[in-house]
Amino acid sequence: MAAAKTAKTNPRLLAQQVVDKLELDGIVNTIEIAGPGFINLKMAPEYLSHRLTEALRLGDLGLARVSQEAQQRVVIDYSSPNLAKEMHVGHLRSTIIGDALARVFRFAGHEVIAQNHVGDWGTQFGMLTAYLDDGEQSGTASMDLADLEVFYKSAKKRFDEDQDFANRAREYVVKLQGGDPHVGASWKRFLEISMHHCEEIYRALGVGLTRADVHGESAYNDDLPVVVADLKARGLSTTSEGAQVVFLDDFANNKGEPAAYIVQKQDGGYLYSTTDLAAMRYRVGTLKADRILYVVDARQQLHFQQLFSLSRRAGYCPPEVQLEHVGFGVVLGDDGKPFKTRSGDTVKLADLLSEATSRAFDLVTAKTPDTPEPERRAIAKAVSIGAVKYFDLSKNRSTDYVFDWDSMLSFEGNTAPYLQYAYTRVRGVLRRAGEWDQAAAISIIDPAERQLALHLTRFYEAIHTVVREAMPSYLCTYLYELSASLMRFYEACPILNATEQVRGSRLQLCRLTADTLRTGLGLLGIEVLETM
Ligand code: ARG
Repeated sequence: MAAAKTAKTNPRLLAQQVVDKLELDGIVNTIEIAGPGFINLKMAPEYLSHRLTEALRLGDLGLARVSQEAQQRVVIDYSSPNLAKEMHVGHLRSTIIGDALARVFRFAGHEVIAQNHVGDWGTQFGMLTAYLDDGEQSGTASMDLADLEVFYKSAKKRFDEDQDFANRAREYVVKLQGGDPHVGASWKRFLEISMHHCEEIYRALGVGLTRADVHGESAYNDDLPVVVADLKARGLSTTSEGAQVVFLDDFANNKGEPAAYIVQKQDGGYLYSTTDLAAMRYRVGTLKADRILYVVDARQQLHFQQLFSLSRRAGYCPPEVQLEHVGFGVVLGDDGKPFKTRSGDTVKLADLLSEATSRAFDLVTAKTPDTPEPERRAIAKAVSIGAVKYFDLSKNRSTDYVFDWDSMLSFEGNTAPYLQYAYTRVRGVLRRAGEWDQAAAISIIDPAERQLALHLTRFYEAIHTVVREAMPSYLCTYLYELSASLMRFYEACPILNATEQVRGSRLQLCRLTADTLRTGLGLLGIEVLETM
């Protein structure tokens, strides 16, 4: 209808012209023009069967991988916690969303380079390494470091109360920056311990980030003066109140004053922004990225907009490289405020995950008390991690959400337990079928069969939409609707008691649905179970 307006013609007439040119023999059975100019196409059942048979035969679920030419090298910056403290729920979102995106992009045929841009530099590390040194001398360090949050707080308390210590902490910063071997070694020990805490979380979550993916802020230290000198040489930055600043006209306030992007402070120190410029040069120049995704809290939106704008202007990122801030909202508590513990502290991820598992264990035990305990533990683990991840991934990532145990662990609705249960159920049907012909022909007759079949052919569409929009929720919605179609199919179509030919066809549909559910959930980083 919009096209007809542009072409100044009647929409039905235009629809007819489109239909005359369509070549859909063998794909579509009927084509009709309806209403003011809609074109209704009805897919041929034989074509549907053919698509599904091919998907089973090739074992690729009907997914067309991207062609060699369309393949991109995608840098994904995710997780990126600050190593001074324990990871918190904000980093949970980045880690889960980034991990799902990395999996989907790879599956679609792209090359992914993960970048864990950890915060491992800055003045707080002077305080922390000084405190670590003291603790090591008195033999209390290893105990304190069991909990980085506690360690940080004690160090901070000492810093605020003890003048000598505060001075020494400041000295440590200078020494660290100057490459002092003793302070450098303590700093590395501290990072090692902190990184180890993160890795425990990654392991618990089943996230594949490794040391090889870590490229933290400190990795850019040597390049920071180079970046600042370069900006000056290009005439982009100016000295303003002793600091080096780039004025961004495209971010002017309502008085027309440009925004100030500070790259070097008055005291010579560099900032988060400077590091991100250096990281941009590395990702474009060395890693040769075609597309860079920053999976970071939406509250940093302005930072990224300014970073992208300046990087283009300075020539650090050519126009053909795509830059995206994959922003996400805040995790909220029942009170609608950022998620905190009862005492008002930030919620540590390690505690959150163990609570998830114990809640899931209680649920599983209530449901199936006779299942042997080790099995119930295994189910609880898959269900709890799946539930936490899926609850996050299924939301439109840019909005905030309220953390709610009961909804995420529910076996009904758009949740991981529901999908995991749908999977075990369809696997159960396949098991009970015993020996059957895995090459049985598929024929689509019943409307419920047709709906399931249509949905199955759209898997590739879900995958490529996630790739295009960097939005894992599309895959969640797809899988949820697939499970719903499966349930309707069970209700309408007897499987195991059907005649030989129909039985074979329906089992094939079950097989493809099971494979699609397993693969799809796997791409979200969620495990499936044979029984639960
Ligand atoms: N460490 C930062 C934080 O916790 C996130 C870093 C994101 N990546 C980046 N290139 N700025 O807020």
